[in-house]
Amino acid sequence: MTDTSSAPAPSEEVYGEHVFSHLRPDEAERLEALAHALDENTFQRLGRLPLREDWHCLEIGAGLGTTARWLAARCPRGRVVATDIDTRLFPDLDGRNGWEAREHDVTRDEFPTGSFDLIHARWVFSHLRSRDADLARVARWLKPGGWLVVEDLAQFPLESSPNPLYRKVSLAMCAAVQARIGTDCTWARDLPRVLAAAGLTAVGMEASASSVGPGPMGRFWRLSAEQLRSDLQDLFRITPAELDRFLTQVSGGELTDLCLGTVAAWGRAPAQPVVA
Ligand SMILES: C[S@@+](CC[C@H](N)C(=O)[O-])C[C@H]1O[C@@H](n2cnc3c(N)ncnc32)[C@H](O)[C@@H]1O
Repeated sequence: MTDTSSAPAPSEEVYGEHVFSHLRPDEAERLEALAHALDENTFQRLGRLPLREDWHCLEIGAGLGTTARWLAARCPRGRVVATDIDTRLFPDLDGRNGWEAREHDVTRDEFPTGSFDLIHARWVFSHLRSRDADLARVARWLKPGGWLVVEDLAQFPLESSPNPLYRKVSLAMCAAVQARIGTDCTWARDLPRVLAAAGLTAVGMEASASSVGPGPMGRFWRLSAEQLRSDLQDLFRITPAELDRFLTQVSGGELTDLCLGTVAAWGRAPAQPVVA
């Protein structure tokens, strides 16, 4: 684990307020790279569910809306609602294949109990300070028998990296987002317990990770590090030379190593609505 003893006391800053703001000129490129890196695994996972054409689906923290697009193509007689705290990077109405866009803060805003057959979120809840309580509220939005699928980031592939500079800077990035916006890059490993505590049944999990390098994950990790540059240098004593070397490593062709992983966990609402 990274030594986070030099990190400042947690701030009240939230995701997107400064770090990862959708107003930044490079944020759409960063989220596009993330979607390219993760979509295939997400679509395979969701494709293993008994999806029906008339399902009502909710995609939380949809980013650019790539998963909402995929769901809308599979549920043409149902309804797909995509939310985000900031919907500015959603495609306009013409660019959406029928899915609804909703500005919605999952830490505060509600949907009626029993609204959805499927709720999915990817790389959202780890960023929220009230993540366990938020997931418990979200579980109540499931119809009886509905599915909650949560995919979230996980730092364990970075912890075991055999490449010292890559490991050091990558774990400092995890510590930096924790210090700035409260992100917990270890939380997803515990998702089965959180889903079971929310009253869900048939809980399962799996994990995946892709490599940095010339592909989309390398681009995502480089753009993330560039946003965190001053925190890495000022708070975690990463030197400019180390950072420059790291940026070349992660987006060039010289390093093949796993980036942040994704833990996917799922559970089903019982036959009666979840009221926990
Ligand atoms: C790392 S991005 C992931 C985007 C998308 N889910 C994906 O995997 O491609 C996190 C997303 O969660 C959104 N988000 C952050 N806090 C949120 C909140 N409180 N309520 C809803 N969305 C939120 C962000 O605006 C951003 O679009």
